[in-house]
Amino acid sequence: MYKLIALLFLAITASAQSSIPALIPAPQTLEPGTGRFAITAQTRLAILTPVADIRRMVTDNLPGIPTSDVPKLTKAITVRLAPIAGVGPEGYDLTITPTGITLTAPEAAGLFYGLQTMRQLMPVAKTFRGQSIPALHIRDQPRFGWRGLMLDVSRHFFDKAFVKRYIDQMAQYKFNVFHWHLTDDQGWRIQINSLLKLTEAGAWRVPRTGSWGTIENPQPGEVPSYGGFYTQDDIREIVQYAQDRHITIVPEIDMPGHMMSAIAAYPGLTCGKKQVLVPTNGKFYKLEDNTLNPCTYGTYLFIDKVLTEVAQLFPGPYIHIGGDEAYKGFWTTCEECKATMTVNNLKTVEELQSYFIKRVEKIVQSKGKKLIGWDEILEGGITPDATVMSWRGMKGGIEAAKQGHPVIMTPSQFCYLDLYQGEPSAEPSTYSMARLSTSYSFDPVPDSVRADLILGGQGNLWTESVPNSRHAEYMTWPRAFAIAEVLWSPKSKRSWPDFIGRMEAHFKRFDAQDVNYARSVYNPIVTLKKNSTGITQVVLSHELPDTYLYYSTDNTVPDTHFPLYTQPFLLPKGAERVKVIAYRNGKPIGKMVEVMLPTVAKAVQ
Ligand code: ACM
Repeated sequence: MYKLIALLFLAITASAQSSIPALIPAPQTLEPGTGRFAITAQTRLAILTPVADIRRMVTDNLPGIPTSDVPKLTKAITVRLAPIAGVGPEGYDLTITPTGITLTAPEAAGLFYGLQTMRQLMPVAKTFRGQSIPALHIRDQPRFGWRGLMLDVSRHFFDKAFVKRYIDQMAQYKFNVFHWHLTDDQGWRIQINSLLKLTEAGAWRVPRTGSWGTIENPQPGEVPSYGGFYTQDDIREIVQYAQDRHITIVPEIDMPGHMMSAIAAYPGLTCGKKQVLVPTNGKFYKLEDNTLNPCTYGTYLFIDKVLTEVAQLFPGPYIHIGGDEAYKGFWTTCEECKATMTVNNLKTVEELQSYFIKRVEKIVQSKGKKLIGWDEILEGGITPDATVMSWRGMKGGIEAAKQGHPVIMTPSQFCYLDLYQGEPSAEPSTYSMARLSTSYSFDPVPDSVRADLILGGQGNLWTESVPNSRHAEYMTWPRAFAIAEVLWSPKSKRSWPDFIGRMEAHFKRFDAQDVNYARSVYNPIVTLKKNSTGITQVVLSHELPDTYLYYSTDNTVPDTHFPLYTQPFLLPKGAERVKVIAYRNGKPIGKMVEVMLPTVAKAVQ
């Protein structure tokens, strides 16, 4: 009997021990093994390559484990570069047994991703020594080669330390592109040595807090004290930091629109040459000209100077030239533009925009770089070698791919990290909605196009309503977990309930790193819907599986003694609000959401 209990106990502990820690993104294949590998004071790293950068990368990612060049070590962590059949440059093979770990990859990038996986397999702890990892075999590689996040540092400025922190977070989840939105109307953030006024004047605006839509314009006499920029040394440091984490930076200089901060420094860049201030909001759109004059040599000289330095600073193959939301109204009344349109037989301002983008592409190419632009660059005819970043849904990307162009899919409804992620009354104010489950359901490859033209996708954090770095993290995570998995893992591996479990494990990892992720996914969703007879019905839902929603309609605080939601219901006569709370495993989760009739919603903190 005792023996039986002991055996049973052993079986239980063995199965608990072999449970695989949560990995995000999920690997291509994973076979659990038996037992664990323990990291002790005797454990050594055998790095079977003399390449100094790789040796440093391995020791940086597995801190506290000494290296040894003694041949045939036992119980070692062996890291080696070697081809693996069917595994591309970012793939790797990780074999963990009780007697050793072997990480193999054809290239340094694959080793880096294997190391990130190993780090996720370790418990959350400051030191690896004394920890153990479950035996397993992982063969892994990404679904897409472009796995990006974009950070807008213009609308609000994020300093060098935060940019590095953000890149560090990205690297843990196997993102490999950092799209750096460096310029926009509200701030020019990259020092250009041949045009120093861009940062002397363009990087600063008068300070404001408040909701973006209602922020007051600069008033006479106010000092432009809010802002900042990156020196070229800062940029070189960040580029190196990203390179060390196998992240390519794609710098964006947004043109011909979104240029107000440059125009504030150099008013001669517009048709009207009017002196302007760096704006504090977006209210000037279509009223003040924030668009480069595409019909004067000076504009192209300016672009050449900027892109010369951008190309020197960023070793990656691409320069993103924006191209989005250019208001062309001021071009229609510009004498230079009228002449340019006549001479070049351009019928519309869209064709004039296309003329501009084509000239810019020549400049980009003259610096040895490739052009990327937002999907507006399709308007009026696309440049021949451009890569299109589709943001207004998938349609721009589909159109571009049908014309044979490479595409990065970043449709706003799935990928915009500045949108609400949960019940708006429980969130800082922004616009529109991209729930975590919506981001997780994103598929970058539409049926109708050649899959090889879809390079991948990316999450975009615009920062009009993101005034500080803690909120930047809050808006990014956990939606960027979802996007990381969409872009890395095989589509067949995707499972929402499974992802949620892993996400919660990674919340704990982020707690240990003091990263500020959002818990919005725990909040109930309340929708008021008019039925066929015009009567308002209340529909309750929740993004997480296995949740129970309890509600009140009499302005009291619901708990499990209140009605359990099972189907849409009508509000009783006289009721003016619904309060809802979600329970999981018998415990309340998230915030209580309160919706007032007819549509006013308010969350109780
Ligand atoms: C964009 O959101 N304007 C690209």
